[in-house]
Amino acid sequence: MLTTLKGSAGALLLSGASLTAPLALATEVTIACGPGGDSDMCPELAQQWAEQSGNRVNVISTPNDTTEKLSLYQQLLSSGSSDIDVLIVDMAWPGLLDDHLVDLSRYLPNDATEGFFPALIDNGTVEGRLVAIPWYTDAGVLYYRKDLLEKYDQQVPETWQQLTETARTIQAAERDAGNADFWGYSFQGRAYEGLTCNALEWVASQGGGTLVDDAGEVTIDNSHAAQALDLAASWIGSIAPEGALNHTEEESRGLFQSGNALFLRNWPYVWKLSQAEGSPVAGKVGMAPLPHGSQGESRATLGGWNLAVSRYSEHPQAAAELVAYITAAPQQKVHAMKMGRNPTIERLYQDDEVLASNPSMGELYEALRTGVARPASVTGDAYARVSNAFFNRTHRVLSGEETGTQAVEALGKELERIGRRGW
Ligand code: GLC
Repeated sequence: MLTTLKGSAGALLLSGASLTAPLALATEVTIACGPGGDSDMCPELAQQWAEQSGNRVNVISTPNDTTEKLSLYQQLLSSGSSDIDVLIVDMAWPGLLDDHLVDLSRYLPNDATEGFFPALIDNGTVEGRLVAIPWYTDAGVLYYRKDLLEKYDQQVPETWQQLTETARTIQAAERDAGNADFWGYSFQGRAYEGLTCNALEWVASQGGGTLVDDAGEVTIDNSHAAQALDLAASWIGSIAPEGALNHTEEESRGLFQSGNALFLRNWPYVWKLSQAEGSPVAGKVGMAPLPHGSQGESRATLGGWNLAVSRYSEHPQAAAELVAYITAAPQQKVHAMKMGRNPTIERLYQDDEVLASNPSMGELYEALRTGVARPASVTGDAYARVSNAFFNRTHRVLSGEETGTQAVEALGKELERIGRRGW
């Protein structure tokens, strides 16, 4: 059964009506995860677990927007609701939600996380408690139209400046050739977690740091960060539509996949979808590391999703088993091959079938190795406020309400205030 959870916790739809008759001793586990469909295989894998284990599963689809998903979880968890047993959680959230999550190592055998990237297991471990198991991992990448770069004799850009110029040139030429809706660059500019990911890439790849460094010092108030934000603001209305100010991953993919953008910044899941039957850009897309600033190196923000069990679950054992099933190697392999979701188990990057299904998996491994983490571990339960402050300030710069310099100065003060008593 698939129900939808959106808006507020009050809108939680858990209609028992369509449930099949209870099986003897079967436990019903409710999992809140992705929307399924084009996006991930959560509903399908959860159903498989139910069939194989003789339990029942209720899949709740949550909002696509990462920030909305977080507020929904915060409402539910702070009320101690037992409505949800398993949750899909962003890799940036273990330190925010850990008080509400069980220690999975109490329920699972020791080898449940064997072969996983140690850094991802560390990310899901808070104060010695394994609160989340990594399911798939993400890093920002640049998609480009190889046919158009060839047509206009242009190179894949290595710097943001080159991206800006190439986008401008080809956008003008394509518009002259009759496509009035064509844009140079598509990215996620809405005021939400995705903008934090984009802006961190601009800033870090211009040598402007990561907002808060590993020692907990606020570092954002610097001229490199200001320049990076100013350059991004110059894109709005010139190489990117005003609408980008409200784009999340899927809207930005839509613009690119419809054939109306030259470059796209997004996560690896776009690859398979862009090559799918009926995609107007199938066979015309290339993937490259993100550009860097004039003063830095390419930095892809690290992302990805974990599965966790709510502390308020009435069935933590069955819930933990569902988590272990979905995140186990055979299921991760299918997820990688069918949906291009990057495994969190290292050996799958050497698996011939995985590599054959997605030739860029090897390159992605490199982006994952050198990626930049959001300052989530160091800021712990203040991370949501840190990220909110960053994406809101960045959004103001993109909207032309503030300059980069004003924004980083104000943001520096705001972050100092948030972290005043230590993180
Ligand atoms: C992707 C990433 C996730 C990030 C989100 C932002 O889903 O995997 O870590 O927070 O995008 O929109």
